[in-house]
Amino acid sequence: MRLLRAGGVIALPTETVYGLAADASNDDAVRRIYAIKGRPPDHPLIVHLPNRQALSQYLVDAPPWLAPLTNRFWPGPLTVIVRKSPIVSNIVTGSQNTVALRMVDHPLTQAILARFGSAVVAPSANRFGRVSPTTADHVLDDLGNDVDLIVDGGAARIGVESTIVDLTGDVPAILRAGAITAAALRDVVGVDIVTRSSGSVRAPGMLVAHYAPKATLVLVAENEVAAEVERRNTRVQRAIALDLPASAAGAARELYDRLRTLDKAGYAAIVASLPPDTEEYAAVRDRLTRAAHGD
Ligand code: TXA
Ligand code: MG
Repeated sequence: MRLLRAGGVIALPTETVYGLAADASNDDAVRRIYAIKGRPPDHPLIVHLPNRQALSQYLVDAPPWLAPLTNRFWPGPLTVIVRKSPIVSNIVTGSQNTVALRMVDHPLTQAILARFGSAVVAPSANRFGRVSPTTADHVLDDLGNDVDLIVDGGAARIGVESTIVDLTGDVPAILRAGAITAAALRDVVGVDIVTRSSGSVRAPGMLVAHYAPKATLVLVAENEVAAEVERRNTRVQRAIALDLPASAAGAARELYDRLRTLDKAGYAAIVASLPPDTEEYAAVRDRLTRAAHGD
């Protein structure tokens, strides 16, 4: 890919959300990503590998859980945090000694990375703090002329960002919920997985105000949604209920698109209730909770 080799920045489809990709070994290209997103330099990026064999170049001290987890879930919506090797730039990691690694499960992006032959950094292709894009049109709406190319690979199959698991501690720790649940991870590693919602690592997904639509997102109990919509609907400001598919996978796939559609339609308030407190809904609950703290 000539554009990537020349330090270009391109939006690529993945199974989770669209990513904004640049050559991970080109500091200037990586700096451009931070600039386009409006992302603070101490919020690290995920390195997306072209193939499994590349993994060993990017890390030192491989933890025992790494091989079982990557064998089982890669390519797929799992990001692992491990100790970085010297080839990983401090610009990528925000000067931390750890790096986030992932392998994307999307045929188009796999083909592009295979031809490029090297790793790219790829944060979600949205402005910092906003809702991630799940279609090429979302990327165009958000970033338009700021990117050199947008590759349209259709709507993202999963719709929420990858599960991030930190493998640098005594036990694996989930830093961001995603399609791969704690139970699925536990089945592979054979130990309980902890969930860390804050800590010493900097992760923008961990800021409470994140993934936010422009409208105010209001969370109420399920049986109070209709009344809350009515209360918030005035002559000057419109409110609407957030309607999501009844399955966990369906809700994840539709969530960001619905929030964007309602934002575009100009609603001042979006009223929702949290889905059940189960592992399969963890990612949707997490994103809704953060989006509700967005304004
Ligand atoms: O599904 C995904 O992971 C998407 C697609 C495009 O691959 N990418 C994505 O990237 O969500 P981004 O940059 O929006 O989110 C990356 C998350 C951030 O919360 C970041 O702080 C965290 O990964 N992260 C990166 N490196 C880290 C590290 N060394 N330690 C802890 N967290 C890290
Ligand atoms: Mg993001």
